[in-house]
Parts: sequence; C-alpha cells; structure tokens
Amino acid sequence: MSAKIRLGILGGGGDSLIGVLHRVASAMYDQYEIVGGVFNPNYDDNLAFANKIGIPTDRIYTDFETMIAEETKLPESQRMQVVSVLTPNFLHFPMAKTLLENGFHVICEKPMTTTYDEAKIIKKLVQENESIFAVTYTYTGYPMIRQMRKMITSGAIGKIQKIDARYYQGWINPIIHDKSKRSSTWRLDPKKSGISCCIGDIGTHAFDMVEFVTGKHVSKILADLNYLYDDNQMDIDGTILIRLDENTKGVIRASQIATGEENGLAIRVYGDKGGLKWEQENPNYLYHLEDGTPLRVLKPGHEYNTELSLDGTKLPPGHPEGIFDSMGNIYKGVAKAIKGEAYDHAEFPTVIDGTRGMDFIEKAVDSHKKGNVWVDIDK
Ligand SMILES: NC(=O)c1ccc[n+]([C@@H]2O[C@H](COP(=O)([O-])OP(=O)(O)OC[C@H]3O[C@@H](n4cnc5c(N)ncnc54)[C@H](O)[C@@H]3O)[C@@H](O)[C@H]2O)c1
Repeated sequence: MSAKIRLGILGGGGDSLIGVLHRVASAMYDQYEIVGGVFNPNYDDNLAFANKIGIPTDRIYTDFETMIAEETKLPESQRMQVVSVLTPNFLHFPMAKTLLENGFHVICEKPMTTTYDEAKIIKKLVQENESIFAVTYTYTGYPMIRQMRKMITSGAIGKIQKIDARYYQGWINPIIHDKSKRSSTWRLDPKKSGISCCIGDIGTHAFDMVEFVTGKHVSKILADLNYLYDDNQMDIDGTILIRLDENTKGVIRASQIATGEENGLAIRVYGDKGGLKWEQENPNYLYHLEDGTPLRVLKPGHEYNTELSLDGTKLPPGHPEGIFDSMGNIYKGVAKAIKGEAYDHAEFPTVIDGTRGMDFIEKAVDSHKKGNVWVDIDK
C-alpha cells in the first residue's frame, strides 16, 4: 500500500487551463497519488483522459455525486482522502459541500463559491468537521512572497502606510468588442462565474495577496468597476480603494482589458522604514527599498531568507522556479496538515481566506452599484 495521500480530482480535464498545474504540483514533493475522479462531464472524454495520463479507470466516475457515493463505500485505507475541485466556479459549492459532508478534505480553486452566503456555509462545515480545506490562491506559494510576508510581519519595513496591488491581464479585449464572441467563455456568464468576472477571477487574488503579505485585514473598500458595454453583465476591469485602518490605505487595480498584458500581478507595500515590491512575471526577485540606501534584490534559496521561504525552494540559488513550484508548495503544506505534521499557517490559504475573498467580491460589486461608496468588509 502506497504511503502517499490518496487524491481525487474534479474538473481539470485535458481541455482545461488549470488541471495540469494541479497534477504537476501534487506530484512535486512525492506526497500524493491521484487515484481517480471526474475530469470532464462527458464520461467518454473523462475515461479517455484518464487513459492518456495513465490513471486506472476503475475509479473514474460519471459525476461527482457517484464518485462520493462509491468512494464512501470503500474501506478508509483505500478511500480518497482529499479531493481537488478544479471546475468552473458554479460547481465549487455543491462539490465542496458534498465532499465535506462525507468526510473528505478539500483543495478548492478560487473563487471558493459564487456567493458569500455559500462561502459561509462551507466555512461552518469545515470548522464543525475539523476538515482540511485549502483555497488555491496560487501566488502565495512563491518563496519570495513568503519572504515578503515574513519581512513585513516582523517589522522590516516599519509601519505600513501605502499598498498597491495590481493584476492586469488583456485576454478579454479580443472577445469583448464582438457580441457573439462574448458568449464564448463561461467567465462572462453569471450563471457559471458568479456576479463578477474581473474582480471574482483576479481581483480576488490581489485582495488575498494584500492580506497575505501584510498579515492584516482590509476593513473597507470603494470600487469603480467597468463593464464596457451595457449588455455585458460582468465587470471586466476595476479600481478599488482599500483601507486597512485610518492611516493604512491603498489600491487594488485589476483588469482583463489591459490590452496585451499577460499575467501582470504585482504587489508593492511601503512602510515608514522601507518598501518591498514583487511581480509575478519575474517571481524570483523581491526588491527592498530604503531611504538613502541602494536598492537590494533578494532571491530564493539563499540562507538570508526565512525558514518559510526556504521550505518552498527545492534547488540551490540560480535555478529559477515558477508557478508550478508555487502551487507545489501549497500542496506540500496541505500534505503536512493531512498527515498531522507541524506547519506554518501561511503554507496554504484556508477557508477563512476563501470566505473573505467572497465577501470582497460581493462588496466590490455592491460598492460600485450603489454609486462608488465605501462599504465594510466583515471582520
Ligand atoms: N489559482 C489560479 O491561479 C487559477 C487560474 C486559472 C483558473 N483558476 C480557477 O480554476 C477553475 C477552473 O478554471 P479553468 O480555467 O481550468 O477552466 P476551464 O474551463 O479551462 O476547465 C474546466 C474543467 O472542468 C471540467 N468540468 C466542467 N464541468 C464539470 C463537471 N460537472 N464535472 C467534472 N468536470 C467538469 C471541464 O471539462 C474542464 O476540464 C475556475 O474556478 C478558475 O477560477 C484558478
């Protein structure tokens, strides 16, 4: 019997964007074995994909309800222990809820659900059942983002006075101007995506990043969103002012119509003693700024980094690691939690982060629709 954690997968088929990232990440530290799942709603495609990637088909199911019912019948030593939910957003809630109710741990893609109310139901279930629940805000797994968090929370840049989080993509620009093309993606369909496209898909990453690196909570936001066309129901761009407290303020800028941009997530935090800045497209460089001192560049794998950062670095300095490694670090943290080993709670985003993300999305849309007013984020 393998000592690896038995992992099931929902979604993430051969036609998906994110499936390969999770499969590679789960294999990265030799902690998991994919034992089955439902990769695709079409059973023939599902089987064909399992065969293609070399997973035995005896635990490939027609749908998630059948998977949970059949897996629950297996002895505990064979049953899936954790299931990754990688489907379009509207399926996260029914899948995660049923999994939790039947005793499975869950790794869930973001946004965690499509509404804040659903998120609160999931949070309650996780807390009642003492389940392990991770939400894959992937970028928190980068070694230099972990380093940034530890430096800020240990006072390296002093009292925070300015935060600037930006997430610019351009992929919606080629489809948004043509009415027929707009319906080609589930992300612009509120029934599948939820009430927001840009803020739900990427603004929520920026929001989580702000809270992750500062170790603090956003308390209020004011949003100005852009839908570009009257018949488009989903925001595709937004600028959101944020306040942590009366003197700690900043901005989250997110866009899917920043023409030509690829995956431009960047975070800058400035305190009274210095600043730190990082960009996802060059993730192995963390810039440390101070008054009257030359710019310092910190890189992964060096002894000067914190234990949390070094734990997420597999190779000596100078061997660039990227998005697969970042997700791999989240899976590594979840593995420690499932095995009951000690871990730093920054090793993976939890149901609390996922629930705060859903509150943020709903409040951003609310703020915009009420005429760009300040709204509170729940404590
Ligand atoms: N963490 C990140 O940085 C990140 C990046 C991209 C996407 N995502 C999230 O991942 C999720 C999936 O996004 P994507 O871009 O891979 O979507 P996608 O449309 O490319 O793929 C979705 C997959 O789910 C499968 N699927 C659909 N309905 C299903 C069902 N009923 N049962 C089983 N499988 C089903 C599809 O066949 C497909 O394989 C979304 O929630 C998205 O927000 C997260």
